[in-house]
Amino acid sequence: MTASLSMHLLVRDAQTLAHTLLSGDPRRLAHVRGAALIAGMAAGALRVDQPETLVAAAWLHDIGYAPSLRRTGFHPLDGAMFLARKGWPDSVVLLVAHHSHAAVLAPYYGVHHHMSLLDHAPGNGDDIITFSDLRAGTNGMGADPRDRIDDMRRRHADRTFVPSDIREARYRMMLTAAARVNAAINGATRAQPTLMRQPPRAS
Ligand SMILES: [Fe+2]
Repeated sequence: MTASLSMHLLVRDAQTLAHTLLSGDPRRLAHVRGAALIAGMAAGALRVDQPETLVAAAWLHDIGYAPSLRRTGFHPLDGAMFLARKGWPDSVVLLVAHHSHAAVLAPYYGVHHHMSLLDHAPGNGDDIITFSDLRAGTNGMGADPRDRIDDMRRRHADRTFVPSDIREARYRMMLTAAARVNAAINGATRAQPTLMRQPPRAS
């Protein structure tokens, strides 16, 4: 099997797995579909090596929400552990484990030790997955990252076991990562301004 065919199959398998595991959650499935689309466009604009790895990770980054995968209750780790058990490439496993600065929350879910054993994927993959997670919006239709964070603040307000300053620090880290990717894309190409340019927002 050629390397390019192997990578193509990686994305196909990731898409199939996401559809299988998230079939009961159409909104989340639409979200990961949007994230995969954005990850592919970002990876192309930034000419990253093995863009299919990023697209596959974007498809899979939220599979840990699937009830059948629940082990620790921390979805980045539950998803990553499942993928590791099934023999998925380490690069995909690590991107799923660390998506959107998950490690910041790990101590409050009792999984800090497990997460500390997982390296970060090399390169800017973590940033691109975080960018894609934010830009996809909850329904995959696209969002301003700041609006997405506001939505997360509302939806996660009941998770009071995570101190508010820790939650806010993570949100800032996510926005900074997304801004890095946005700046890199804008620096690399002006070919996709409608997707990548930040819309103006009143403060
Ligand atoms: Fe997500």
